[in-house]
Amino acid sequence: MNAAFVHESVMLAEIVDVFAEMNNGVFLDATLGGAGHSVALLRAHSALRLLGIDQDDVALAAAAAVLSQADCGGRATLRRARFDSLATVVAEEGIGSLAGALFDLGVSSPQFDVAERGFSYRFDAPLDMRMDRSQSFSADDVVNGYDADALARMLRLNADERFADRIAKAIVASRPIRSTSHLSDVVSSAIPAPARRRGGHPAKRTFQAIRIEVNSELSILPIALRDAIAALAPGARLAVLSYHSGEDRIVKSVMRTAETGDCTCPPNLPCGCSAVRTVKRVRVSREASKSEQLTNPRSTSARLRVVEKLPQEEMN
Ligand SMILES: C[S@@+](CC[C@H](N)C(=O)[O-])C[C@H]1O[C@@H](n2cnc3c(N)ncnc32)[C@H](O)[C@@H]1O
Repeated sequence: MNAAFVHESVMLAEIVDVFAEMNNGVFLDATLGGAGHSVALLRAHSALRLLGIDQDDVALAAAAAVLSQADCGGRATLRRARFDSLATVVAEEGIGSLAGALFDLGVSSPQFDVAERGFSYRFDAPLDMRMDRSQSFSADDVVNGYDADALARMLRLNADERFADRIAKAIVASRPIRSTSHLSDVVSSAIPAPARRRGGHPAKRTFQAIRIEVNSELSILPIALRDAIAALAPGARLAVLSYHSGEDRIVKSVMRTAETGDCTCPPNLPCGCSAVRTVKRVRVSREASKSEQLTNPRSTSARLRVVEKLPQEEMN
């Protein structure tokens, strides 16, 4: 792995297993990151090709190096894009349908660990948090621009923050806030002392909520997942790794809608509505093994969900 971009892939063996029976064709990795999952899948399927998407130029450059070191570069096409434009990217690459697709959501370890990207309360840095550095909207705009109601709503929605109102008021009262350290101090002092001593760093949820906001993580996810399901070949699978409840709720809901076709018929009667079911659920272990959780802390919050596209004749 490139020394500047070290990301330990989560549930790697489980993901390889999910795609063990995959047909040849093009596999979409919608969150390429350090390409750990992609390299493992290309190694497991010698005729498979890869379409790798990431919105972060640093991740893409690192992934290109990793793929070429693994002798897989010739089978990979990499595109800088946000994954809600995957339908356009797939069409532009002349791909008819996908052999499989993976979303490993959220940020990679290097995004957290490079101080100046401003994702972490552990380092002092300007308020940034953009995965796509060509985007102008950053954490500074959220922290210094949103009113207290909008901040509180965002903290509840993106991070289930119990102290959303107190934190939002403290942020507004402390403006301008220009650095991660200043933000972290403001948030910590807004949380009551007994709660501050429990459940990890007091600013963790606020940083998560702002990162999700800056990168529109929750709003674009349903579009991307629906487009990925639509692009799958019959029998092809979509696997999604999510890392917090807000993401997992969306993944579950999109997959469930594709599985039921939003059927409105009473459960005890045959379906008479015009629902079209496009996938079936694939049962997998939803969480990382205990041993992985001990060695890779990022895996403790991972939740895996998988669906498989139905053959045309079974869609009704
Ligand atoms: C958890 S990492 C992926 C790690 C990868 N599976 C591996 O094994 O190395 C998530 C990656 O997805 C990218 N990403 C997150 N949201 C994205 C989006 N909406 N569009 C494109 N890339 C995105 C991030 O920039 C990051 O590099």
